[in-house]
Amino acid sequence: MSEAVAQSDSTNSVNALDINRIRAAFPALHQDVHGKPLVYLDNAATTQKPDAVISCLKSYYEQDNSNVHRGIHTLSERATESYENTRNVIARYVGADDPRRVVFTRGTTEAINLVAYSFVEPRVSEGDEIIVSEMEHHSNIVPWQLLAERTGAVLRVAPVKDDGSPDLEATLQLFNEKTSFVSVVYVSNSLGTINPVRQLIDAAHAVNAPILVDGAQAMAHAPIAVDEWGADFFAFSGHKVYGPTGIGALVGRMEHLEAMRPYQSGGDMIRRVSFSGTELNDIPYRFEAGTPNIAGTVGLASALEFVESIGREAIAAHESAVLDYAFDLASNLSSIRILGRAPERAAVLSFVLGDIHAHDVGTILDTEGVAVRAGHHCTMPIMERFGVPATARASIAMYNTREEMDALFAALAKVEDIFR
Ligand code: ALA
Repeated sequence: MSEAVAQSDSTNSVNALDINRIRAAFPALHQDVHGKPLVYLDNAATTQKPDAVISCLKSYYEQDNSNVHRGIHTLSERATESYENTRNVIARYVGADDPRRVVFTRGTTEAINLVAYSFVEPRVSEGDEIIVSEMEHHSNIVPWQLLAERTGAVLRVAPVKDDGSPDLEATLQLFNEKTSFVSVVYVSNSLGTINPVRQLIDAAHAVNAPILVDGAQAMAHAPIAVDEWGADFFAFSGHKVYGPTGIGALVGRMEHLEAMRPYQSGGDMIRRVSFSGTELNDIPYRFEAGTPNIAGTVGLASALEFVESIGREAIAAHESAVLDYAFDLASNLSSIRILGRAPERAAVLSFVLGDIHAHDVGTILDTEGVAVRAGHHCTMPIMERFGVPATARASIAMYNTREEMDALFAALAKVEDIFR
């Protein structure tokens, strides 16, 4: 663990975070918004970036900028080495045994679409079932709906209980011999629920169905062990784990990746091209057509190493303590209704205040310097499940503090006053 950002805490087996030093590492946190110190609580939408990532991008562009896998010159070799090294960092971070199983994508959405098109579509026929849950992000619903339209497959939806936890009994009943694929979120972006992915993976495998875990909201907040779980696919986005936007990855089982048809085609995904026929490249290059987001991969490795240097367990413990504190404060606010009170939850406080529209809540909070997301969070079905069009959502990261929760709730009390 880096001494720069962690300190020993004898009362706790997990080291406590040195919050001041962590906050000092994130330049964007140190600004005023509407004359108030910024309280950034929109981390589920995107996290702020530490100096380490920003300077890594800068030095990449200043010194190594070049194309990968194409040049024999020094800069190209350096760019290629950094690009490929990111696969090692990701494999270690998610617990996958082989960096060749890491395919770079623009993010989680592209990773899920890649699996839908290249792996699932050729394997399903009319009447086959694909299981998702009621708390999925649109990016883990719409690709399957479109696939179902094209193939005649049927989408089955695992229900959610009133507290935002999965209805496991009902969910497990959905698995049967027609189940051909399962795609589930690990940490819900709008409820914070942590789903029991290992149990769902076992249930899928018991009916011989492969399963994808959407790890977008988990990378910065929850333990990840792709191989230990036995997941067939794992998808994530770099920008939600302190890395750049426009870069993420799909981590798949090698035998699945080998069996998948190409998605996009062009340069780098081929070994040899002629008009009499084209030979495809090896995994993972087969799925990385065109010049990739090289700088993004370099920045992503730096982000993951930054998180590792602090300690993922310590970060999760800190965020959980801040979230618990927010839940305590919420009990003093008469009109608040929290969506998502699952016992296993992470980093998210999603709520409505009486009949005040979430956009009004978000707009007033912004005038107090508090940044939250307001809307349906790209999860309209779960909003419908709870009978609301939208929520305001405060999402917590490693750099958030109890004092910031005080600021959030002081601002919410003002919102209540304005609408009283
Ligand atoms: N999926 C992102 C969010 O939850 C954008 O805000």
